[in-house]
Amino acid sequence: MERYQVKGAHPLNGKLQVHGAKNAALPILAASLLCDSRSGQCCCLHNCPQLSDVEAACNILRHLGCKAVWQDGALLIRSGDSSDCRIPDHLMREMRSSIVFLGAMLARYRQAHLTFPGGCELGPRPIDMHLAALEKMGVEFTQNGDGLDCCVPNELHGASIDLPFPSVGATENVILAASLAKGETILRNGAREPEISDLAGFLNACGGCVHLEKDGTVHISGVERLSPCEYSVIPDRIVGITYLCCGAITGGNITITSARPDHMRAVFPILEEMGCSLKIDGDQVSLLAPQRLKAVKNVTTMPYPGFPTDALAPVMALTAVAQGTTIFTENIFQNRYKQAWELCRMGADIRTEGRIAVVRGVKMLHPAFVNCTDLRGGAALVIAALATEGTTTIGEIRHIQRGYENLPEQLRQVGACITIL
Ligand code: EPZ
Repeated sequence: MERYQVKGAHPLNGKLQVHGAKNAALPILAASLLCDSRSGQCCCLHNCPQLSDVEAACNILRHLGCKAVWQDGALLIRSGDSSDCRIPDHLMREMRSSIVFLGAMLARYRQAHLTFPGGCELGPRPIDMHLAALEKMGVEFTQNGDGLDCCVPNELHGASIDLPFPSVGATENVILAASLAKGETILRNGAREPEISDLAGFLNACGGCVHLEKDGTVHISGVERLSPCEYSVIPDRIVGITYLCCGAITGGNITITSARPDHMRAVFPILEEMGCSLKIDGDQVSLLAPQRLKAVKNVTTMPYPGFPTDALAPVMALTAVAQGTTIFTENIFQNRYKQAWELCRMGADIRTEGRIAVVRGVKMLHPAFVNCTDLRGGAALVIAALATEGTTTIGEIRHIQRGYENLPEQLRQVGACITIL
């Protein structure tokens, strides 16, 4: 199995371009299924990241009769006239977030047959909120084993829906199903992540009618048809934060480009409290790191616009070598601390209890053989290794390849010694 070898403990300096957002591209790929391509036109997606999760979504689209090809750096999607509304288990399991195809398939086929998304490294990934919301729109579900048969016996219609929690996936599934449903849908307490706005932007560019309010209320008017469009995916805010953390932990000076600083606002005060100075200029953010980071007292994850759960692991790596103690509180997933044990194998002092993790910074970590436990946990291990004298070997890098495009090549551009074995 491939693994990274990282020789650390020298500053990273230079520019890193942020690629397109995985978590925006995936629901937009699902939405492309709704576009009527009888005209022969394709959806043309620019700034779509070339990642294993994106390839997994393309494989689902191809299974559903769509054409999905890369051309001159853009991803072209043309929906087919297949009526196969079944996603086989092996494709569902390739990517846990395949559940986002449910809403699109119901809108397109008025039925869907798939397996329950397995749990993942972050804990069980229930879909009760998705199903409860879609049920209000006229969908009926039958569970058989780990299979889920969904049908719309009468019509897919708009509804007034209140989410008990601003679930990103449930919000996306409601928007997708409601886009071609009959009538108006109002969704209250919807997720407010930038990726939701990007999905709405894509659907509206296709002729949809999705309006987001600042408080998380979403208004969707069902339309007769959606047409293929050309669209550019937003930059990946978590990749941008990860790149800044690589500079922060190595005492370096990193500028990220092609970013959306406004999407990363919740993390900047944490980096500044740790002693980094930040300069924002248009789509660029420059970070100048101190010789040694200071611990930030508390990091608490919240739904957007709060501190993002996906940034917890990269920031935890910084606190592992900071001066002082940091208390993390994870409010989104049950198991966001799996990378803690791998960081401890490098000499970090981390204790976890349920949603709480206490990190006492040490002066220096030591090299070790570690394994990625999940996507952002893997990024944390790379960040930690960059600040560690000697050679750290990181296994199970498939997790990282799900969400970071050519990470070793990118980091080598700013002076990192990282090779793939
Ligand atoms: C999305 O996951 C992202 N994935 C996650 O990024 C991100 O961490 C998460 O949103 C929160 O921002 C994609 O967009 C592909 P949720 P999602 O539904 O949609 C519980 C990454 O690293 N819940 O907002 O699955 C759920 O168990 C990934 O790129 C229910 O209980 O997140 C979790 O504890 C990791 N019932 C919490 O809500 C439901 O029906 C948040 O889940 C749905 C969710």
